[in-house]
Amino acid sequence: MKRVTLATLRDAKGRGEPFSCLTAYDATLARAADEAGIDVLLVGDSLGMVLQGHTSTLPVTLEDIAYHTRCVSRGRSRSLLMVDLPFMSNADTGQLLRDAGVLMRAGAELIKIEGDAWMADGIRELDRRGVPVCAHLGLAPQRVNRLGGFKVQGKDDADARRIVEDAQHLVEAGAAAILLECVPRALGQAVSQAVDVPVIGIGAGPDVDGQILVMHDVLGLDSGYSPRFVKNFLLGHDSIKAAFDRYDQAVKARHFPADEHCF
Ligand code: KIV
Repeated sequence: MKRVTLATLRDAKGRGEPFSCLTAYDATLARAADEAGIDVLLVGDSLGMVLQGHTSTLPVTLEDIAYHTRCVSRGRSRSLLMVDLPFMSNADTGQLLRDAGVLMRAGAELIKIEGDAWMADGIRELDRRGVPVCAHLGLAPQRVNRLGGFKVQGKDDADARRIVEDAQHLVEAGAAAILLECVPRALGQAVSQAVDVPVIGIGAGPDVDGQILVMHDVLGLDSGYSPRFVKNFLLGHDSIKAAFDRYDQAVKARHFPADEHCF
């Protein structure tokens, strides 16, 4: 069994083969996802909503994320482990470096950071110290109060252009991957074509390099509201493992996301 690395994802992008990503928060479900062939597991700060019952990701602490990173790290053996920096870890560069250090020691292999072009210096400093970064653009849930809700981003030309330029700027600063959330399909494609690092989409259409979903959405466990871009892969199947297999295969065969999941 060959472990997934950033080079694996870059090669997949080069070959035009989509890769699969899924959030994970504990060892048992991480093992099931890993065994299903999911390429990247994300310990997302979505844990604040799906595990802790908050209405946003803002209350999640560094210690919460480090704890779940240690759990997931014990469960997986092949997948690459990406981990979210929580709200306000980017307060200043010192805090950013210290918090990323805590998560790398807990088992992270790729650190995800929400933030636009202004995060370039922080990303450069992390990259210099050997910490690979995935820059999260488009809908940044940690900015929900600023944005006035969980809304599709990049709908007008100026916004779309800014997101493409931010992606290029952050890759020049050293970002090893981009995660793009809730943007029109055409913008997903434009970002993927504009940078030579892997672009992972959630609600960004099929023309990016990898797809990610929150595990609870893949299992049909929504809390009353289900965004357009999610799909219940457990429907018609009798095990969680089968749902993960089906999601992995649907992404790799380009059957997911379909038109009805796009903006
Ligand atoms: O925290 C998370 O789970 C995420 C995904 C929505 C990509 O950032």
